[in-house]
Amino acid sequence: MPGPLLDTLKGSIQEIPPIWLMRQAGRYLPEYRELRAEKGGFLALVYDSDAAAEITVQPIRRFAFDGAILFSDILIVPHAMGQGLEFLAGEGPKLSPTLLEAKLEDFTAAPERFDPIYETVRKTRAMISQSVTMLGFAGSPWTNATYMIAGQGSKDQGSARLLAYRDPARMQAICDAIVDVSITYLRGQIDAGAEAIQLFDSWAGSLAPDEFERWVIAPNAKITAAIKQSHPDTPIIGFPKGAGAKLPAYARETGVDAVGLDETLDPVWANSVLPEGMPVQGNLDPLLVEAGGPALPKRVKTVIDAFEGRPHIFNLGHGIGQFTPIEHVEELLRAVRG
Ligand code: CP3
Repeated sequence: MPGPLLDTLKGSIQEIPPIWLMRQAGRYLPEYRELRAEKGGFLALVYDSDAAAEITVQPIRRFAFDGAILFSDILIVPHAMGQGLEFLAGEGPKLSPTLLEAKLEDFTAAPERFDPIYETVRKTRAMISQSVTMLGFAGSPWTNATYMIAGQGSKDQGSARLLAYRDPARMQAICDAIVDVSITYLRGQIDAGAEAIQLFDSWAGSLAPDEFERWVIAPNAKITAAIKQSHPDTPIIGFPKGAGAKLPAYARETGVDAVGLDETLDPVWANSVLPEGMPVQGNLDPLLVEAGGPALPKRVKTVIDAFEGRPHIFNLGHGIGQFTPIEHVEELLRAVRG
C-alpha cells in the first residue's frame, strides 16, 4: 500500500497535496539539537545508523509528513570517494585535499562509508508506517564537484566553473567519476528500502546555458538512465535549484520523473512550461515560513492553486532554515491540509 506521496510521483492527483520539507530533519527541531549535542557532531550522527534513523523519524512523529528523507548529506559521496570531510561548527563543510591540490587518482576510495547509510534506510523503513514514503537522495555531480574542487561552499562556484572552461576533459573525468559512485550509492539506497530518490542540484543555477547542458543535464541523465535500467519503478525527483528558464529543458532531457522547483520560480509559469502530467514539487519560500504571518497561508494557496490539475507534492523552494519557529511549520501544515 503506497502512500499519497509515492502515488503522486507515479502520476496521481491528490485532493490534498502530500507534503514533506527539504531539511525537515535538522537544527530547527529541539529534539535534533539535543541528540546532536549528545553525539558530538553532524558526521558522527550521519554514520551512526541508529541515531540517523531516529533523526529521520523525528519530523514524521512531530508533523506527520508524507515523506521521510534519509538523514545524511550529499557530501558522503566525496567522502566515500576518499576525500577528507569535516563539518566544523558554524563554518560548514571542509573537504581536503581539494581537487585543485590533488587528483582523483590520489584518493583511496572508501565505499564502506555507504554501509551505515544503507543501514539507516533499512532501520527507518522499519520505523515508519507504510503510507509514509521513504526518500533517498544524492547530490548531483555538478553540485558535488563544486565542493570537491573548492573544498568548501562558495558564492558563485567560481573554482569549478573556471576548471570546466580551462580543462573540460578533467571536469568531465570528475563528473563521470561522481556519476558512477552516485549510481552505486542510489541503487544501494533503493535496495535498502528507499521508494523514491531526489537528485539535489543546489548549484545548478550558476551555469551558462551550454555549461548547464554539459554539467547539469548530461550527468543527471546518465544517473537517471542507469537507475531506470536497474530499478524502473523507483521515481526520481530532480531538483535543479536556480535553473530558471532552463527548467523545461532539464525536465525534458534528464529523464527524471518529477521536478522540484525553487522559490524564485513563478508556479503558474512552471505549470505552463512543464510537460503535461509531470509531477512537481515545491515551491514555498523557506523564509516565508520563518517569517510567518498572514502572507503564509495566502502564498500556500497560490502555490496549490497553480498546480491544480497536475500531480503536486507540497514542499519548500529550498531547505527549511534553522531559525524557523515550530509553530510556523504547524501553521504551514494547517494551510496545506486544512
Ligand atoms: O533534507 C533533509 O532533512 C535530509 C538531510 C540532508 C542534509 N543535507 C542534512 C544536513 C540533505 C538532503 C542535505 C543535502 C545537502 N547538503 C545539500 C543539497 C541541498 C541544499 O541544501 O542545498 C548541500 C549543498 C549540502 C552540503 C551541506 N551540508 C552544507 C553546505 C552544510 C552546512 C550548511 C548548513 O546548513 O549547516 C551541510 C550540513 C548539514 N546537512 C546539516 C544538516 C541537518 C546541518 C548540520 C548541523 O550543523 O547539525
